[in-house]
Amino acid sequence: MSKQLLLAVSLVFAFSSAAWAHEVKYETSTSQKSKKSKKSKKAKKAKKKGHVAPIDCPFAKKGLHKPGMKPFKDIQKYIQMLERKDRSSWQKPDVVVKALGLKGHEKIADVGAGSGYFSFRFAKVLPKGKVYSIDVEPEMLRYIHHTTIVKGINNVFIVFGEAGNPKVPKDSNVVFICDVLHHVQKRALWLKRIFDAVASGTRIVVLEFKEGKLPKGPPAKMKIPKKSLIKMFTKAGFKMHSEKPKLLPYQEFIVFKKP
Ligand SMILES: C[S@@+](CC[C@H](N)C(=O)[O-])C[C@H]1O[C@@H](n2cnc3c(N)ncnc32)[C@H](O)[C@@H]1O
Repeated sequence: MSKQLLLAVSLVFAFSSAAWAHEVKYETSTSQKSKKSKKSKKAKKAKKKGHVAPIDCPFAKKGLHKPGMKPFKDIQKYIQMLERKDRSSWQKPDVVVKALGLKGHEKIADVGAGSGYFSFRFAKVLPKGKVYSIDVEPEMLRYIHHTTIVKGINNVFIVFGEAGNPKVPKDSNVVFICDVLHHVQKRALWLKRIFDAVASGTRIVVLEFKEGKLPKGPPAKMKIPKKSLIKMFTKAGFKMHSEKPKLLPYQEFIVFKKP
């Protein structure tokens, strides 16, 4: 092969590979563009369906990656226990919600909300209000937050409580505490924190298991006698307002108020 022919062949080869490279590059950038537009279309669709959290994601604020929401491994059984079907026969959630006499604009703090058994029922009767679902167990809060996203509920807000301070938001008009107090270690301090947080006139509604042998509820050792319960709340500064001892078969229903 002559020197000239060799030069011509290498020039053609160099030109065609440059063109191919350009083509490949061009193809990559268009596929990236179409991927991006597909993504934004998907996001718009999800937003329309209400699948995007209507509230700021507290997990993201805490540095936890939102798409990484893991299934509830350890706490799943607890959630199943709280949400079990037969509970409503004695827990009578609709009767409890009705007994609170909510008007629809209140802000209610569900302290020790668990799976949100009551929180989501409150949310239904508070179209102009708010529900603060407070718990010390992040997996419970994750479950509640996840439910708000999936169901498009925009009036339930989760609050990370601490063992010694439930961090009840100041603007709560009602504080609801169902089956939680017997789990709390430093009750006097815990109640004082609630007292200091809320405004005068705030109602505190407490449901705790009645004394004696019952087919439901915690073991006798864990139960708080009604007398001690009232003493505890009054010591923290609250005044007993009313009670409905016959509303529920296994639980006391007592209302206190901050004077
Ligand atoms: C028996 S569950 C009741 C859940 C819910 N109130 C219900 O009636 O379905 C008790 C809940 O209280 C929470 N809890 C325990 N100690 C607490 C504390 N110091 N402050 C706030 N929540 C607490 C637990 O994590 C759990 O979710």
